[in-house]
Amino acid sequence: MTAQEPQIEGAVPLYGPRFAGDTDELFREMRREHGPVVPVLLEGGDPAWLVIGYREAHRVLTDGRLFPRDPYRCHGPDYVPPPAVGYLPGLLMFLDGEVHARRVGAVAAALAEVDQFRLRGDCERFADRLIDDFAGAGDVELMEQYAYRMPALVMGGMLGLPDSELMGVAQDMKIMSDGREEAVEAFGRFIVTMTRLIETKRARPGRDVMSRLLEYATGVTDDELIQDILVVVSGSQENTANWIGNTLRLMLTDDRFALTLSGGRSSVGQALNEVLWEDTPVKTAPGRWAARDSELGGRTIKAGDVVIVGLAGASADPRVRASVHGDSGGNHAHLAFGTGDHGCPHPAPELAEVIAQTAIEVLLDRLPDVRLAVPVDELQWRPAFHVRGLTALPVHFTPAYVLEDG
Ligand code: HEM
Repeated sequence: MTAQEPQIEGAVPLYGPRFAGDTDELFREMRREHGPVVPVLLEGGDPAWLVIGYREAHRVLTDGRLFPRDPYRCHGPDYVPPPAVGYLPGLLMFLDGEVHARRVGAVAAALAEVDQFRLRGDCERFADRLIDDFAGAGDVELMEQYAYRMPALVMGGMLGLPDSELMGVAQDMKIMSDGREEAVEAFGRFIVTMTRLIETKRARPGRDVMSRLLEYATGVTDDELIQDILVVVSGSQENTANWIGNTLRLMLTDDRFALTLSGGRSSVGQALNEVLWEDTPVKTAPGRWAARDSELGGRTIKAGDVVIVGLAGASADPRVRASVHGDSGGNHAHLAFGTGDHGCPHPAPELAEVIAQTAIEVLLDRLPDVRLAVPVDELQWRPAFHVRGLTALPVHFTPAYVLEDG
């Protein structure tokens, strides 16, 4: 147990079907009964605070001194972090201060040199290639065959991996994210591939993200570099895949997007933004630990308490909720990408948007009558703590031509 004992009465379990399903009602209930900072129980019984007030979430995300990522500062070396938080020592998102700034700064600087115009062309090429594999069939499961593959192929290409290795990396990342039995082997293959890529780019630097990282990441060992790349590739794959999937779900089920499905493109951007408010791919940010006693949203947070920012809950706060104010299309004040030192580093959100938008536009161009193959209430959300994404998105369409150069 953490220093948060004794448990607060009425603590809400943050696991099970309710937290994995439609959380709208759950957040409303939590807000009504507990306010913006909710006492919760993590899977395994550990207590924590879930922050679902927009203002309070902002405060936690932007105050890295009061709410650091390193649990050992206040708990000492024998502490065992709650398994549900997914703490992994040394991983970028659990570093603080100067070390974190240096490592994430190198990642951001390397990503900033990606030519976004060229990226769009690459995305179109990858999308066409993936669609060619199922265009003639008339049906496909889009999460596995498309949404997950797109970002991993694009990110692998950006890193400078040869074309022949991209699909293998995309598949291994999916195996790891599913936590399947073969995940350890997939992780091993990822390390081997990245070690080889580092050697190649060190010998012959190119105009790719890995060569830039090797240039900018000073004082970082190869093992640390590979860990940072794992965060970049897995974060971009998982989050962008669910952004694509959740947006397609919205567009395929909501009449407001019917025109777009039959040829118009203008509302793909609107649907992508609406999803960041209503079904955001990252429900909860990785955990933080309070450095000292403080007050937050009317609650006393004790030094050492686990604090989890509910990004979905905070964006649903009626004080800011876009749908309450009528237009999520032009409102980008959601917390889908976090904010502060640990927020999704610029320009990653823009790159993700290019990947997601192109993936959806090309799909709708190539398969204009794409439609769900099951009733919407049969689509299932993954039972995950951090992620909001579909287990599967099966669709039908009229079989289409395979592009000759695809
Ligand atoms: C090209 C695609 C992407 C890349 C390369 C990327 C990269 C990263 C990296 C490196 C971090 C760790 C930052 C740190 O801890 O210092 C991060 C954090 C994060 N990213 Fe992204 N990301 C991508 C797409 C997305 C998408 C599509 C979303 C959601 C819509 C997202 C949401 C987040 C969130 C919520 C965090 C954590 C914020 C926190 O810990 O408080 N990312 N991302």
